[in-house]
Amino acid sequence: MFTEKKFKSTLNIYQKRVEEGIEQFVPPAATPPSRLHQAMRYSLGAGGKRLRPVLLLATADLFAPVEDPVPAAVALECVHTYSLVHDDLPGMDDSSLRRGKPTCHIQFDEATAILAGDALLTYAFELMGRHYQNTPALGNSLIRDLANASGSRRLIGGQMDDLLGERTNYTSEQLKNIHLNKTAALITAAMTMGGRIGHAPERDIQSLVLIGKSVGLTFQIIDDILDVTSDDKTLGKPTGSDLDSGKATYIDFFGLDGARSQARAHPEKAKRLCRDLPGDTAFLLELIAFLEHRIQ
Ligand code: IPE
Ligand code: IPE
Ligand code: MG
Ligand code: MG
Ligand code: MG
Repeated sequence: MFTEKKFKSTLNIYQKRVEEGIEQFVPPAATPPSRLHQAMRYSLGAGGKRLRPVLLLATADLFAPVEDPVPAAVALECVHTYSLVHDDLPGMDDSSLRRGKPTCHIQFDEATAILAGDALLTYAFELMGRHYQNTPALGNSLIRDLANASGSRRLIGGQMDDLLGERTNYTSEQLKNIHLNKTAALITAAMTMGGRIGHAPERDIQSLVLIGKSVGLTFQIIDDILDVTSDDKTLGKPTGSDLDSGKATYIDFFGLDGARSQARAHPEKAKRLCRDLPGDTAFLLELIAFLEHRIQ
């Protein structure tokens, strides 16, 4: 068992590895055109929990990886950050606050934010292609996992349906699918990419897929709950925005208490599956519990 103090310090160590990886692998702000690289680094460096890359690193550690997982973790954070930069654009969620700072299109301008998002997405694949070129089978599986998770049938498709939901009456099952696509897919990729770097057997990869789905669904349900119950300062992004824009959320279907109990049901399954994985799963189990109780 981890004490809270031990969990927080281990989380900090993982987050630091991600921060250092971003510093090392993402082109410096002075790279021409400097405005573009400034914007990429601004959004990447604006803070954030680094949950997805931490999940990747922690999962890889279960399998004692030989290859360096940090470039894959940075690539994943680039894709996640691009998705936030575009999610905040006026044509999407039209948000002016992200990670406690003005959103990319407010700090720079809309065209720069679109291009910075495009560049972060593309750079993720450039980085992985380059870094894992001497282990092509691994590189290929990492690129495939990340591309599948972020493509038109998963993250981007989920974002499309999420926007269409502002004027469509979804069923709760359809909403669950949107959450699985727009959020759980990338969280699942974090886990399978970690497993692949550790050369995990296919059986364990399948368990990681199921764990990622559960954790991802919980994560988005809690994100929806916090949009109602938290405040802008704590979250670092605007609250009350789902209601204002008429988004479909779990709260519409199940109320706050119902959404909370759905959020709690999913990690139980994830925790059960974790216990069958090899290696020391104590941190991963604590991380899942932390996500379940998060308030930011
Ligand atoms: C926000 O993700 C977008 C969702 C999928 C809910 P995070 O809550 O992980 O955002 P950061 O990375 O910490 O800013
Ligand atoms: C965002 O969902 C999901 C992605 C960015 C892919 P939200 O629109 O709920 O995320 P926040 O609340 O703006 O972070
Ligand atoms: Mg959105
Ligand atoms: Mg949003
Ligand atoms: Mg939200």
